[in-house]
Amino acid sequence: MILRSFLFVPGDSDRKMEKGCASEADALILDLEDSVSNDRQEIARDMVCALLTARPDRQRQQLWVRINPLDTDLALPDLAAVMPGKPDGIILPKTESADDAIKLDHWLAALETREGIELGATKILVVATETSRSLFTLDSFIGATDRLYGLTWGAEDLAAALGATNNKLPDGTYDAPYQLARTLCLAASRAAEVMPVDTVYISFRDQEGLKAEALQARQSGYVGKMAIHPDQVATINRAFTPSDEEVAHARRIVDAFAQNPGLGTIGIDGQMVDMPHLKQAETILALVAAMAGR
Ligand code: COA
Ligand code: MG
Repeated sequence: MILRSFLFVPGDSDRKMEKGCASEADALILDLEDSVSNDRQEIARDMVCALLTARPDRQRQQLWVRINPLDTDLALPDLAAVMPGKPDGIILPKTESADDAIKLDHWLAALETREGIELGATKILVVATETSRSLFTLDSFIGATDRLYGLTWGAEDLAAALGATNNKLPDGTYDAPYQLARTLCLAASRAAEVMPVDTVYISFRDQEGLKAEALQARQSGYVGKMAIHPDQVATINRAFTPSDEEVAHARRIVDAFAQNPGLGTIGIDGQMVDMPHLKQAETILALVAAMAGR
């Protein structure tokens, strides 16, 4: 299953939960972390659990929960409070390495057992680049846990961790440390055979900027992107859905090799096509098949 859009919804806002559920986001991230103030943590846990319980059918839209980081004393109570609602997955912020994901895996196993949930059913999406050390441990996610759905990256907390005053260059593109984080997140996801999910675009009124960033992420290999506002969802879904032309071209490449089993390279429309192109074409067809299955 491939999720194109993950929409953040503050866990203590009835209004936004309602709007989120009505949106076309493939998944919601019911947030217990940064978008909820300290004095509203308990209210948010109750509201998130109530929504999860009220929406057991997740065919159209999955419900994930972002808990607080594992180095706070909020993380385990967050999990204990929401697991009765059987979230599809947990977003783990501010990870240092796969050790954090493995610890979460163990906690989830205990809570799944308590709740009578199938062992391993709850997936994990790690926010893998929010601390300075995390940039050096990304390969630790290879083979870490079967629960790992994917890796995503964060530029805001990373900027704070690095002591930066800004994470963008004057032309609006990311400064070098965040480009690096984005690239490492992609490479680590592919190495670990999990889904690379692009970070949020915080200028939520700027559709053109969002579209450009999403298309570029997809071109690089990302399969989805997080959103902070419902108006971002349609743009993201479109950017991460292969176009009819792309699919037709991919099919031509796959068919051409299937019809010429002895050949390692073929000319199509005046372009040399060989094994890496075949692999890319197969990836597009697999993506489309996975999307059709949801
Ligand atoms: N999920 C669901 N609904 C949302 C939403 C979200 N993330 N963001 C906005 N909406 C709703 C608003 O409630 C509003 O609905 P209403 O007019 O019926 O009350 C409507 O969409 C339009 O919102 P708008 O006025 O354009 O934005 P805003 O100023 O109210 O909110 C933010 C701006 C950034 C505060 C808001 O988008 C938000 O809370 N985003 C998520 C933040 C978050 O989770 N951050 C942590 C991860 S980085
Ligand atoms: Mg954050």
